[in-house]
Amino acid sequence: MKKSILFLSIIFTLVVLSACGQSNKDGATSGDKKVLTMATSADFAPFESRDKAGKIIGFDIDLAKAIADELGYKLEIKDMKFDGLIGALQAKRVDMVLAGMSATEKRQKNVDFSTAYNHSGEMFITKKDSTVKTIDDLKGKTVAVQLGTIQEEGAKKLQEKVDFTLKPLDNSTTLIQELLSDRVQVAYLDKSVATGYIKEQGLAGFDDPTSSSPGMAVAFPKGSELKEDVNKALKKLEENGKLQELKDKWLKDQQ
Ligand code: ARG
Repeated sequence: MKKSILFLSIIFTLVVLSACGQSNKDGATSGDKKVLTMATSADFAPFESRDKAGKIIGFDIDLAKAIADELGYKLEIKDMKFDGLIGALQAKRVDMVLAGMSATEKRQKNVDFSTAYNHSGEMFITKKDSTVKTIDDLKGKTVAVQLGTIQEEGAKKLQEKVDFTLKPLDNSTTLIQELLSDRVQVAYLDKSVATGYIKEQGLAGFDDPTSSSPGMAVAFPKGSELKEDVNKALKKLEENGKLQELKDKWLKDQQ
């Protein structure tokens, strides 16, 4: 008697276990969506940064979510150094990058870009009492830029005209820390991002009149089929007003 109860309960357990396994499997195929892996560099508010709880938020994040929704994907986000994003795409470790990345010709040799979704410019940020007001005033100063950005490249070109020291740093937020603690006199960065810091930290700054950066776009590994889908999604989000809604939410004060 006892044996048969034991036997029955073993059978019962096995049936229950296999049913659980079954439903999990079904969930993975029918319930769960395909995953789209996006990389970013969350040091670039209001495009991407971490909130107090450590969650990655920003314009690019909301835009990527809207694109993923549109295409029926679940979005997974990886945070990396900006400098490593192109390499991650080339190694196909991620499907796409949204990181306020400007679609430069140079980068187009190694990755593909969507249509541009935002335009910005460049700015020099200084402390409020700084005497640096023009590009010529950079002479003899130390200027911080983020490693691997178009600002680093632009600053190198400027060095051909004006003699200043360049300090490339791998995290964009460090630029401001360096400025606030007088280790550099100038930080050179994206205008939308700079405007935020100027307001938030009571800093000063001036536009770079020489800058002509291309628009920000989604980047993909070369030859990725995702590009066309994302372009279609971007077009739809532009037409239905969602893109503008996100710009109003995140970029309104920065323009
Ligand atoms: N727009 C500039 C570039 O493409 C800077 C982007 C920096 N982005 C970031 N998430 N830190 O080079």
